[in-house]
Amino acid sequence: MDQTLTVLGIESSCDETAVAVVRRSAAGVEVLSSVIHSQVVKHAEYGGVVPEIAARSHVETIDDLAQRALNDAGWPDIDAVAATAGPGLIGGVMVGLSFAKGFAFARDLPLIPVNHLEGHALSARLTEEVPFPFLLLLVSGGHCQLLSVRDVGDYERLGTTIDDAAGEAFDKIAKVLGLGYPGGPALEKAAALGDAQRFILPRALLGRKDCDFSFSGLKTAAATIAYEHVKTEQDRNDLCASVQAAIARQLVERSGRAMKLFREHNAVTEPAFVVAGGVAANATVRRELQALAAAHGFRFMAPPLKYCTDNAAMIALAGLEHYAKLCKMGIEDRESLIAEGLAALARPRWPLDEARAQAEPVHKKQGRKGAKS
Ligand code: KG4
Ligand code: ZN
Repeated sequence: MDQTLTVLGIESSCDETAVAVVRRSAAGVEVLSSVIHSQVVKHAEYGGVVPEIAARSHVETIDDLAQRALNDAGWPDIDAVAATAGPGLIGGVMVGLSFAKGFAFARDLPLIPVNHLEGHALSARLTEEVPFPFLLLLVSGGHCQLLSVRDVGDYERLGTTIDDAAGEAFDKIAKVLGLGYPGGPALEKAAALGDAQRFILPRALLGRKDCDFSFSGLKTAAATIAYEHVKTEQDRNDLCASVQAAIARQLVERSGRAMKLFREHNAVTEPAFVVAGGVAANATVRRELQALAAAHGFRFMAPPLKYCTDNAAMIALAGLEHYAKLCKMGIEDRESLIAEGLAALARPRWPLDEARAQAEPVHKKQGRKGAKS
């Protein structure tokens, strides 16, 4: 029987500061507390996240937030601390990671550096049993990837975006249309009143049969249509509906291919297809992916909305699952483990499937910071 573990999780990689306490016992996973401070209003006037403003805001709020999370959880004994160490806006990541190091050092606890993407990848396990292996579509503002999740820490990238993430496309097109920030929810609202057949938008990477995504052509086409044809509110709603349909179509098409690939490599009767990340909140996207999953014999799963978007409960769980693995193997040298955690570096880029990202980089020029996701 696995031991009961309680982990404090910290998330600060973008524009949400979040702290949570998660416990896993024989009874299952329990989120003892999860608090989030969104910076949306601070970035709204700029139409996107301003890294410097984000980092300062994390500094200002993290102390109070940690107090609240521990209070809400009833100040339980903590076994380990987990913090997002990347990928993300480096200033923000450093704030959360440094706070976590301070907490871990003061209490002589191990610190587990967590890949933010792994947090999303495992988020469905916060509320449901999701056995490995499963197929994951991660669609957020910063990421758009299809991954085969074989185990904790064992991921295979099946496809990724070669330019923008789907959420970024929603946000940028919404900005052009004057819908405010974040654009996804506003665009969805407008799309509900529009005609999705009205505007023809380009289909990306038509010649390719892999699972990669591309949204930059769609973004440019939508901006051109907005400039030339959007004169009334109805025009705008129609363009929103057309854009939403085009994004959903691309997600469905690539996910369908990934399902076939997944089946070729995994003999699982009814594997789970997990959709995580902020875009999973979109009802049209969700409905179409659900239908696709049913057609391919996959069990559709999406974490509850509060765990779909950025949160610290998913970071705490990812850290917990790694720490549980270490405990199971037997921690011989606790002092070294603690020292290792305190030396962890913040990483602006950190692909989940590092081997694949190095061997087949989506961006041939990797830059000083290494392969992108
Ligand atoms: O996962 P998330 O909170 O943060 C990242 O890690 O990026 O995702 C935020 C993204 C934003 O781009 C936002 O516009 C998008 O998710 N989003 C939506 C909806 N709700 C949030 N996109 C489309 N429709 C929505 N209802
Ligand atoms: Zn995220």
